Amino acid sequence: MEPDFWHDRWENDLIGFHLDEVNPMLKAFWPGLGLEQGSRVLVPLCGKTLDLVWLAEQGHEVVGVELSPLAVAAFFEEQGLKADKIVTESYELWRCGRISLICGDFFALTPEDIGVIDAIYDRAALIAMPEKMRPDYARQLNSLVSGPMKGLLLTLFYEQSQMSGPPFAVSPDEVQNLLSGNWLTEKCQDLDILEQNPRFKERGLNLLEEHVYLLRSRN
Ligand SMILES: C[S@@+](CC[C@H](N)C(=O)[O-])C[C@H]1O[C@@H](n2cnc3c(N)ncnc32)[C@H](O)[C@@H]1O
Repeated sequence: MEPDFWHDRWENDLIGFHLDEVNPMLKAFWPGLGLEQGSRVLVPLCGKTLDLVWLAEQGHEVVGVELSPLAVAAFFEEQGLKADKIVTESYELWRCGRISLICGDFFALTPEDIGVIDAIYDRAALIAMPEKMRPDYARQLNSLVSGPMKGLLLTLFYEQSQMSGPPFAVSPDEVQNLLSGNWLTEKCQDLDILEQNPRFKERGLNLLEEHVYLLRSRN
């Protein structure tokens, strides 16, 4: 999707993807990655998710990336956090305690912008992209991070012809095709979540699965 699509979503409060709780899959599966306190975690396309707070509470340094200044401002305001702001040519960095949010285009960032990363957490980032953008997303992710790395990836799977995204359906085969060059991917959860998501049923889906992958870099 183009940036204007997302800016429009935030301006008009069309943010059905935002959860009012920490993602239960994050809480359930993140500890299995065995990361040390102080590990730096990249959260691409982070919105104003409460998951950022939870990750910081685990002792991690959290680096979120989000296009919308409205989302970034709302995050810090709703958490009652006062952020320092650094403005660069290509993005704004908002920072408070262990949480740094880069307000800018994920695709325009360089490894220097992000710094050393130990883990990634992707919830509703890969699946926010239409099929033709997903290889670029995977390439950009891989170009930003290097060295031994772990991660958690949450995707949705449904019959794409039944509904237009976002969120888009991403199959296990596609995850494998996109990521297997740099990552070992292990699907550790495959849940039927249609009944808990009536808005997707209303949009015509007769199957909706949430898939959870543990990621480990190959190097
Ligand atoms: C589906 S939402 C998911 C947000 C968050 N991960 C969550 O779980 O609530 C996708 C987010 O990505 C942001 N976004 C879209 N394209 C982006 C880009 N190129 N760079 C940075 N953020 C982007 C949107 O503004 C939106 O907040």
